[in-house]
Amino acid sequence: IRKGAAHIYSSDKSPRRGEPSGLLQPIRYDFAVEVKQRINALRQQIRDADHAYYVQADPIMGDAAYDRLLSELMALERANPEFGDPNSPTTRVGGAPLDAFRSQPHELPMLSLENTYVHSDLREWFARVQRGLEAAGAFTESTESNSLFSTDSGVGWTAALEPKVDGVAVSLRWVDGALATALTRGDGVRGDDIVQQVRTIRGLPLVLSGAPHILEVRGEIFMDDQAFSRLNMTRSQSDLPLFANARNATAGTLKSLDPAIAAERRLRFVAHGLGVVSNRVAESWSNARLRLQGFGIPVNGPIALVHSAEESIAEIDRFDALRRDLGYPTDGVVLRVDSMSQQEILGATTRSPRWAIAWKFAAERAPTRLLEVEWQVGKGGTLTPRATMEPVSLAGTTVQHASLHNIEEIERKDIRLGDVVLVEKAGEIIPQVVEPVLNQRTGQERVISAPELCTCCSQPVSRVGPKLYCINASCSAQIRERLSWFAGRDQMDINGLGDKLVAQLVDAGFVRTFSDLWRLDVKSLLTLDKVGQKSAQALIDAIDAARHQGLARVLAGLGIPQIGVVAARVLAEHFDDHHALLSATASDFEALPDFGEITAPLLWRWIHEQGGEHVFAELDALGVNLKSVRLGTSAAQPLAGCVAVVTGTLPTLGRKEAEAHLRALGANVTGSISSKTTFLLAGEKAGSKLAKAQSNGVTVVDEAWLQELLGQSKE
Ligand code: IVH
Repeated sequence: IRKGAAHIYSSDKSPRRGEPSGLLQPIRYDFAVEVKQRINALRQQIRDADHAYYVQADPIMGDAAYDRLLSELMALERANPEFGDPNSPTTRVGGAPLDAFRSQPHELPMLSLENTYVHSDLREWFARVQRGLEAAGAFTESTESNSLFSTDSGVGWTAALEPKVDGVAVSLRWVDGALATALTRGDGVRGDDIVQQVRTIRGLPLVLSGAPHILEVRGEIFMDDQAFSRLNMTRSQSDLPLFANARNATAGTLKSLDPAIAAERRLRFVAHGLGVVSNRVAESWSNARLRLQGFGIPVNGPIALVHSAEESIAEIDRFDALRRDLGYPTDGVVLRVDSMSQQEILGATTRSPRWAIAWKFAAERAPTRLLEVEWQVGKGGTLTPRATMEPVSLAGTTVQHASLHNIEEIERKDIRLGDVVLVEKAGEIIPQVVEPVLNQRTGQERVISAPELCTCCSQPVSRVGPKLYCINASCSAQIRERLSWFAGRDQMDINGLGDKLVAQLVDAGFVRTFSDLWRLDVKSLLTLDKVGQKSAQALIDAIDAARHQGLARVLAGLGIPQIGVVAARVLAEHFDDHHALLSATASDFEALPDFGEITAPLLWRWIHEQGGEHVFAELDALGVNLKSVRLGTSAAQPLAGCVAVVTGTLPTLGRKEAEAHLRALGANVTGSISSKTTFLLAGEKAGSKLAKAQSNGVTVVDEAWLQELLGQSKE
């Protein structure tokens, strides 16, 4: 290999100097300059896409195209570390976990806002501001907002209204254009620096051009509806407690010392104010917003500029009617005096500024009848009550099911079957049954009692505090749930093994344990309803391929209490294989980032007292890889983040062998071309996969390319 040559897969198919054209020939960058140019172009494209999506709310590319650019950039940066940049979009995947957050003082205190739910308070606030400004003789002839919007109202000041986003407040500081710190509110005087977590927020520029020497922007970090429901869905699958609402989820995410968690959960940010600024940014908040937007910092959709309490009430009502379609959580409207100099005149009390007030929307509730309670068995054996009600329209959707939390809640609130109950959606996506409407009882209602037998296997249920468990480890509902989870995309990723097939396999008695999957054969599969030769073979192949997934994914799949995808990854980063886990003590686990005194002993007990040791031994004996496949950090893994497919007959390597090499280089190998595929490794007689790759613009490489990469990573 020539020194300085870099070989990475570009989706740009034009033949390069000295290279024969043809798709089987990978693109090679022979000159560092070219690599550098490609890296810069990719970084710019990704930043543009982030800006379009998060700041302008007008995406310029789909997820698949975006992921492909990011994978290519990651691969290029890994293969060419000399072109690293601490502000590259790839750094948003989150760096190494921190030991602790550093606490720092706020140069200007972070205040909170006076809240109100009643119109009379709003009128009062308008009158108070009016008096305060009049007393100071502070009415300007023409403020900036007057020049922007025609507001000849005679009152001499303008109120700016914007959505109150339901998240976590943060104060971001850019020094000489670079994002330097991100302090939480804390007690208002000191906060924790969460800048490593904040750096993962895609819509936030890490570098600003033309900004003042010091620019402190305050705003809200939040999770949009999509990210929130995705998070809770994965948590429910791993039997982890659900977050009640997006704000709790955001706060929980930011508390984690591991920035990779923040990266994964796709947090967002909007600016809602300024802190210390070395040169004044604008004369009014409405113009400051435009300046911030010009720097690429997302601001909140404004509602209006108004001059009276009555006007603001009308705007608030208008906003209330459309806010559920925004796709992110809002719990009110913030009203503020627009002019900065008028804000200064009004000043603040010790708790909150006099120039602003928050209108809060009351949580929405609706009455409906409780028809039925179903006890659902989770993979850890917990029985969770789910209410079925007469459909009712609530906060813009029709609601028919709601959470009843647990038996203790049902008993405490004395909720009965047939009751008219109040259902609430207050920022929560999952509706909750709040309480029965007692004066509507007819006497026909029936008490809901804890089931004594499991609704699936009819074995006794045990009650631990508020929770009910089916303690029969061979309960088929539990086994089904556990296996489906194990086969899931973020765990063993066994293509084709969905809930239906899992149920068939369990019901037929073919699979009771994880390891039974690798004992399956085509012959037994053929006895199942609607399974033919081809799909049976495909399933066996997929299960076979899942052997190579490595320790993190296995651990994530086993359904160990409290161990989901993220915790499993932390374990695999700190322990080389299952032997290392077996000899670890509970305090070794407790020392890991985000583990703590609950998770650590649970894990230790699962391994040593609840059959974990045996599970590892069985999987190991069947050839399932229980070693850490470390992703992403070393130069030996230049393909980390790439998704590869292999097809055709390769000149020297067998297919399985090539796949193993690709995995060792960090790639995720899958069976078919999809929008996620980074490249296709193709040999002779490549057939339909090659055609599909070509028509989807997926880069195609050959064995020689892989051999070179292998040589390189051994150097
Ligand atoms: S203005 C002195 N505008 O709500 C604070 N705050 O309940 C001035 N919030 O502390 C803040 N959206 O964390 C402002 N558009 C918005 C907001 C907003 C959410 C948060 C903020 C504030 C809290 C008050």
